[in-house]
Amino acid sequence: MVRNFSGDPRQLAQLEAEAASHSWSETQYRDALQAGYPLFGLFAPDGDLLGFCLTMTVLDEAEILNIAIAKAHQGQGHGRLLLTSVLGALASTGTRRVFLEVRASNAPARKLYQNCGFAACGLRKNYYPAALGREDAILMEATP
Ligand SMILES: CC(C)(COP(=O)(O)OP(=O)(O)OC[C@H]1O[C@@H](n2cnc3c(N)ncnc32)[C@H](O)[C@@H]1OP(=O)(O)O)[C@@H](O)C(=O)NCCC(=O)NCCS
Repeated sequence: MVRNFSGDPRQLAQLEAEAASHSWSETQYRDALQAGYPLFGLFAPDGDLLGFCLTMTVLDEAEILNIAIAKAHQGQGHGRLLLTSVLGALASTGTRRVFLEVRASNAPARKLYQNCGFAACGLRKNYYPAALGREDAILMEATP
């Protein structure tokens, strides 16, 4: 089940740190939630948090700031379910375009975004710090 929730910065940072090679800190999540950015969670029937998606909306545009599925639950279609539901929720509140940035090396995320209707619309060379130097960010856009 996907729904809006208020979120615990520590839980979000921990889930992402275990799921991803690069993650936001607890402080970054606290600041984002205090700023009122919409947060969506994917919950198991017993109420456990399986993943989340943090967004930011300005007028009729939105940005996917972060999406993560808990490590043990990846590769089972949860990311697709979560992102599809988020896009539906954004569309229902008047969002017309959705943007995101993804590391060029993040194959699972790029596949997920393509599956959910995102297409590349730009490139930021050497945007992210990486284990060996820097890597490019691919900008993607979708109409929800
Ligand atoms: C990206 C992420 C949210 C995807 O969630 P998920 O539940 O594992 O994704 P799904 O199971 O719904 O689907 C992922 C797609 O990627 C594909 N995929 C998985 N691993 C892959 C890999 N190593 N290379 C290419 N594609 C891959 C899957 O086959 C699937 O595509 P398909 O449905 O066409 O088969 C999850 O991997 C994650 O939390 N990653 C860490 C955080 C992160 O990188 N977030 C994105 C920041 S921009």
